[in-house]
Amino acid sequence: MRQVIIAGNWKMYKTAGEARRLVEDLKPLVGATQVEIVVCPPFTALAAAVNAASGTNISVGAQDLFWEDEGPYTGEVSGPMLKDLGCRFCIIGHSERRQYFGETDASVRKKVQAAFRSDLIPIVCVGETLAEREDGKTLEVCRRQVEEGLGGLTPEKIARLVVAYEPVWAIGTGKTATPQDAQEVIGFIRELLGKMYGKDPAQRCRIQYGGSVKPENIASFMEQPDIDGALVGGASLDPISFAAIVNTA
Ligand code: G3P
Repeated sequence: MRQVIIAGNWKMYKTAGEARRLVEDLKPLVGATQVEIVVCPPFTALAAAVNAASGTNISVGAQDLFWEDEGPYTGEVSGPMLKDLGCRFCIIGHSERRQYFGETDASVRKKVQAAFRSDLIPIVCVGETLAEREDGKTLEVCRRQVEEGLGGLTPEKIARLVVAYEPVWAIGTGKTATPQDAQEVIGFIRELLGKMYGKDPAQRCRIQYGGSVKPENIASFMEQPDIDGALVGGASLDPISFAAIVNTA
């Protein structure tokens, strides 16, 4: 069945030296797990993290990439550059990028394709804002984000990629969706992928929950049939908390 995947999104935290230490501290704490572990430091700390994680069960991912492979795009970083550094994953479409940096479903779609071109596994984030939830639009918003962001792929690619359902109102707020609410949306996303690409790839696609995941609440999410892991923000910055989440999952 689907291998559980726990990823840490470090956001704009940790210098290269701090990243190296975090990975060094994490290694002995997660050596004996079956869970797939990913850490996603900022661009400037990727090389240090890859170096520190080399030869371990910890993979490294970036937090974004640009959709072209090279060109005159000041400030951007491409898939081939990330692959060359040793990254295996790339977060795409995080709500903070949608909110502050103009990320749209159309840019997500191009970035997902760019990630696959460079043999990076996309972790594609979807989720509704508080206003959208209160308007009863949660499923409608997630449907649009999945149909537009993940359109035009092949069933094989759907089976490989990771989706992270992150309700925006649960990010960094200490509030979480209930495990049942998260299951409802994640089950809906899996069903939708099934309609778009067929049942088998949809069953193989891993779907995470994200939003204030902590050692104390991870078990309740993992009990849900369609939840295959978590995308962890704040709690991934501390090796003890992140290891506790991995080892509980
Ligand atoms: O991508 C992870 C994320 O947005 C959740 O952050 O701090 O609520 O775990 P946090």
